[in-house]
Amino acid sequence: MEKIAQKVYSQINNDVYNTQGDIWWKPDSVLHLLKTSINPWRVSYASSVLKKLNIDPKEKTALEVGSGGGIMTEEICKMGFTTTGIEPAEESILSATNHAIVSGLNIKYEKGTGEQLPYPNQSFDVVFCCDVLEHVCDLPKVVSEISRVLKPGGVFIYDTLNRTFISKLVAIKIWQEWKRWAFMPPNLHVWKMFIKPDEIKELLSKSGLEWKDHVGSKPNISIPKMLSFLRRRTKGEWTFVDLGKNFRLVESNDMNILYGGYAIKK
Ligand SMILES: C[S@@+](CC[C@H](N)C(=O)[O-])C[C@H]1O[C@@H](n2cnc3c(N)ncnc32)[C@H](O)[C@@H]1O
Repeated sequence: MEKIAQKVYSQINNDVYNTQGDIWWKPDSVLHLLKTSINPWRVSYASSVLKKLNIDPKEKTALEVGSGGGIMTEEICKMGFTTTGIEPAEESILSATNHAIVSGLNIKYEKGTGEQLPYPNQSFDVVFCCDVLEHVCDLPKVVSEISRVLKPGGVFIYDTLNRTFISKLVAIKIWQEWKRWAFMPPNLHVWKMFIKPDEIKELLSKSGLEWKDHVGSKPNISIPKMLSFLRRRTKGEWTFVDLGKNFRLVESNDMNILYGGYAIKK
């Protein structure tokens, strides 16, 4: 897989992460669904990987690439890692920093992109990149940078969106475009930037990372129910808080939309 064409990358709205105000931690905001609806699945998967590999986060260093407002970073820190988050959007870094202080969590947030990580080779025991790979301009560079900053034997844990007919229908049409149900801003995601599992496997291998596992996800409710919940929100009967209370992802073999995985640095 190559670097994404500029005319495709120019379509994604990554400016949304540089919006002033609390776009991450205000319970009635779309990005807070990362905490209420996505964290249960991805944090549980990450914990199971670390357990399987007998990694005790205490005395280990972790980096989250594309840490946004710190919704995943705080979970990483709570696991016990000495935690750093790197993120290009200054407003998101501000939001993350303020929330960590209020939560009494010691997290180092820095400005930067995955394409150019400002760390020496072999700096971290674990690197996380959650819901970010489908947002970056140069995916091969980001994966090679992650590999570079990982210690030998270190672990890369990620999740991203697959490029399938079903992901186009659900993640683009239903979640973003069709007004009856849409709850995400237009162009938050661009389907052509989604990544097939075989493509990520190829990139990992080219960067000296040994791919180990992929896991799928599905909603905790049926698709008709999900649509009826989304409809309640667009009609104004429900807020994002109601959505987050009633809808979350659970582990599944279905990799058509959001999937996670991990690899080990050789
Ligand atoms: C969907 S948010 C995920 C935030 C966080 N990882 C989480 O899951 O809570 C995507 C994030 O990727 C960041 N991002 C976009 N392009 C990036 C790049 N080239 N390198 C690193 N992060 C990037 C955005 O600024 C945004 O904060």
